[in-house]
Amino acid sequence: MAQFIRGVIVASLASLISAQTIKVGSTVVAATPQNVAPAGAIVAVPAPLSTTSGAPLLAWESFQLTQAVLTNLTNLNLTAISSFSFPGTGSPSTASCKAFPGDANWPSPIVWDVLDLLSGGALIKTVPLAAPCYTSWPEYNATLCAAITASWNDPHLHTSDPTSTQWPLFEGLTCIPPTLGRTVTNCTLGGYASYSIEVSNVAQIQLALNFARNLNLRLVVRNTGHDFADKGIGAGALSLWTHKLNDIKFYESYTYGSYSGPAFKLGAGVHTEDVYAVAEANGVTAVGGECRTVGLAGGYIAGGGHSPMSSLVGMAADQVLSMEAVLPNGQFVTASATQNPDLFWALRGGGGSTFGVVTSVVVQAYPKIPVTTMTFDFTISATLSATTFWNGVRAYFSYFATFTDAGTYGYFNIVPNGSGGYTFTFDPFWGGNMTKPQLQTLVAPFLKDLSNLGIPVTPVFTQYASLLPAWNASFPPENVGGWTNHAASRLFPRENFTNGTLLNATLAAVRYAIEGGAILVGYNIKSATNAHANQNNSVNPAWRKTVTHFILPGLWDANASWATIQNVSETITNDWMPKWRAVSPGAGAYMAEADINEPNFQQSFYGSYYPQLYALKQQLDPYGLFYAPTGVGSEDWVVEGQLPYVPTQNGRLCKKT
Ligand SMILES: Cc1cc2nc3c(=O)[nH]c(=O)nc-3n(C[C@H](O)[C@H](O)[C@H](O)COP(=O)(O)OP(=O)(O)OC[C@H]3O[C@@H](n4cnc5c(N)ncnc54)[C@H](O)[C@@H]3O)c2cc1C
Ligand SMILES: *[C@@H]1O[C@H](CO)[C@@H](O)[C@H](O)[C@H]1NC(C)=O
Ligand SMILES: *[C@@H]1O[C@H](CO)[C@@H](O)[C@H](O)[C@H]1NC(C)=O
Ligand SMILES: *[C@@H]1O[C@H](CO)[C@@H](O)[C@H](O)[C@H]1NC(C)=O
Ligand SMILES: *[C@@H]1O[C@H](CO)[C@@H](O)[C@H](O)[C@H]1NC(C)=O
Ligand SMILES: *[C@@H]1O[C@H](CO)[C@@H](O)[C@H](O)[C@H]1NC(C)=O
Ligand SMILES: *[C@@H]1O[C@H](CO)[C@@H](O)[C@H](O)[C@H]1NC(C)=O
Ligand SMILES: *[C@@H]1O[C@H](CO)[C@@H](O)[C@H](O)[C@H]1NC(C)=O
Ligand SMILES: *[C@@H]1O[C@H](CO)[C@@H](O)[C@H](O)[C@H]1NC(C)=O
Ligand SMILES: *[C@@H]1O[C@H](CO)[C@@H](O)[C@H](O)[C@H]1NC(C)=O
Ligand SMILES: *[C@@H]1O[C@H](CO)[C@@H](O)[C@H](O)[C@H]1NC(C)=O
Ligand SMILES: *[C@@H]1O[C@H](CO)[C@@H](O)[C@H](O)[C@H]1NC(C)=O
Ligand SMILES: *[C@@H]1O[C@H](CO)[C@@H](O)[C@H](O)[C@H]1NC(C)=O
Repeated sequence: MAQFIRGVIVASLASLISAQTIKVGSTVVAATPQNVAPAGAIVAVPAPLSTTSGAPLLAWESFQLTQAVLTNLTNLNLTAISSFSFPGTGSPSTASCKAFPGDANWPSPIVWDVLDLLSGGALIKTVPLAAPCYTSWPEYNATLCAAITASWNDPHLHTSDPTSTQWPLFEGLTCIPPTLGRTVTNCTLGGYASYSIEVSNVAQIQLALNFARNLNLRLVVRNTGHDFADKGIGAGALSLWTHKLNDIKFYESYTYGSYSGPAFKLGAGVHTEDVYAVAEANGVTAVGGECRTVGLAGGYIAGGGHSPMSSLVGMAADQVLSMEAVLPNGQFVTASATQNPDLFWALRGGGGSTFGVVTSVVVQAYPKIPVTTMTFDFTISATLSATTFWNGVRAYFSYFATFTDAGTYGYFNIVPNGSGGYTFTFDPFWGGNMTKPQLQTLVAPFLKDLSNLGIPVTPVFTQYASLLPAWNASFPPENVGGWTNHAASRLFPRENFTNGTLLNATLAAVRYAIEGGAILVGYNIKSATNAHANQNNSVNPAWRKTVTHFILPGLWDANASWATIQNVSETITNDWMPKWRAVSPGAGAYMAEADINEPNFQQSFYGSYYPQLYALKQQLDPYGLFYAPTGVGSEDWVVEGQLPYVPTQNGRLCKKT
């Protein structure tokens, strides 16, 4: 069995594999990776680009598990081969909980070994990333621990680990490096998956889905581990690690349905930073987020995907032309406006890890655009009163509709200045498709308002030839790995900023939270429509009415007790957010950057689409194979042992009774 140690797959434990036998002719021999080929067959040879059928499959997408392959395997004398069957006439499991390590029905090592063998040695018995820091683990290695600790805040450390998460809070903080401000006496697997498959072809996904479904195992899909709610982890789970599916194919001229223009086909594991680089090299603009390592074709598009481009062209999910996915029943399908249209609708906005595993997406791209950014800040000080400060913030908010209608994207924050006051910072104000004179003209009335209020600012305007250099200069590599905050968020409707009375009420709600100890990470953004964006998808309807995505983290110290973490989390959910909801009744929140404790998450994250999404979930996944906290259908499940307001993933997953 392959064991993963910091990026390296070390030799299989051959003793387990050799306990398996196969017949070669009439001779019985030990089964080894040498005489058992990975299960799968090339069933669809990658075809040339066709204008009628869309982009060809990626080479690894054509290596699939078929019934013929499975039938062939039954000729081998392998244990538990029926665990890999596609659904037959049997009914879905009626067990009240998923199997958990230590249970009588947990697969024996030899059964895991068959999965490893059939998946071509891709199975990893997971080890917490920080295990080398703990003497109780065989991986203990002080040198390696020091390196892991030094890189702990770098997202690449986590994306290149099969099971780590960027935000370990909901993992349960069971294995963090010991010198980062919190004492953990012993490292345990906690909320990390038990096994992971390093996916490199479709057949492996099919094997894993069939295996988990037939053996009633918890299943998770782990791409980059960026999700705020830690949707890609789970104790006792088999995890599909999609990181290596990092193909980026560019089509200069691509015709599909009514679209004709540049497009990309992206493997499920690509990072935003890599897509932007390829777009730049080809003279086009891709629609992605601001974060460098978010999985553009994974959880990002699945949740809707907001972008510096959104106020010009809509959400990332609106740019999708077609997708490939493996369904809960193990079937590999294409989803597009004409093939499996209901699935296509749901996969674009209805959330990750719910309807299947996406293997690739085809997205349209835009011509190159100039970008001009503006930065400045102002802070409460001896010469700038709190009243004036908030009037300055109010002045900005009053332009939210005007600015987004002009296609801009404002990224800003309001944080404590360290001495009891606050600082407002543009980080930056982003003028997509704008020259410097154009942006200066747009913001002139706003700057005049600040000046009239007596708020001195020194705006810095910088024009870039295209998205990549503007983005690279504006959004530094993100700092991850922390557990000292947790956030909620809200998509406030446009009217809350265009009408002075409503604006004041909204501002008061924002100010209440900040003065209560929150920080504001704000986006002035809208989901624009254009001739190409296909908004017939399940993106939260609240996105179509908003000009903001406001994220509201509450904070605590690295060494905070669980009671303190619970307290702050409760304050976010039950004190600050009710005020935000009260001024935006019926609006919603962005599922991918939201409060895991959001009350009535069905309405907030999915709006009026929830019933349709839930019905489709029941239809495609009657087995309850896919679960993610706050995902569609997750209300039917419960993870055992959670603290109130801290729903960690380190307990057993059970059906709610
Ligand atoms: C620093 C930071 C900045 C961010 N910036 C932005 C931004 O600018 N715009 C924006 O819209 N969002 C942003 N996000 C949020 C981001 O979109 C979500 O966290 C998203 O869920 C990440 O998806 P992932 O695949 O990278 O992460 P993961 O945590 O690995 O996956 C997220 C969810 O999607 C599921 N999933 C992943 N891949 C697949 C697949 N192939 N098939 C089925 N399910 C899958 C996982 O199971 C999980 O449920 C940011 C997040 C962070 C932490
Ligand atoms: C079945 O096994 C035979 C013999 O190993 C092989 O030649 C054939 O390609 C296999 N068929 C499939 C569909 O895997
Ligand atoms: C099948 O494998 C089992 C052990 O897994 C072994 O005991 C048995 O002899 C094998 N039978 C044949 C026909 O290979
Ligand atoms: C410990 O880790 C370091 C750094 O990765 C490595 O060079 C060294 O070989 C490891 N030591 C042992 C005993 O594995
Ligand atoms: C520490 O954790 C390891 C791994 O889970 C476990 O084997 C060991 O018993 C634990 N030790 C103590 C002292 O709790
Ligand atoms: C929107 O998509 C759904 C499902 O994909 C389809 O049934 C419907 O006809 C589409 N509606 C429009 C207006 O295109
Ligand atoms: C921060 O705000 C406080 C309180 O209003 C103010 O007195 C102080 O001057 C500010 N500090 C800085 C560094 O701006
Ligand atoms: C950029 O602006 C030009 C006109 O100035 C327009 O033709 C083009 O569609 C815009 N591009 C985007 C992506 O909005
Ligand atoms: C990104 O910025 C860094 C410095 O911050 C610079 O070294 C690098 O060349 C830039 N890359 C691109 C593609 O602009
Ligand atoms: C602004 O909102 C208030 C409160 O809902 C309402 O009474 C008023 O008519 C609105 N004003 C305008 C100009 O729409
Ligand atoms: C909103 O607040 C501002 C400043 O605090 C005040 O001048 C204005 O009169 C208020 N507007 C309304 C409609 O209440
Ligand atoms: C926890 O950390 C904070 C800030 O780093 C420090 O001030 C405090 O003394 C620590 N508390 C304990 C109990 O270690
Ligand atoms: C914000 O807008 C929504 C939707 O138009 C509206 O229902 C709500 O009353 C507005 N906010 C306030 C403070 O009234």
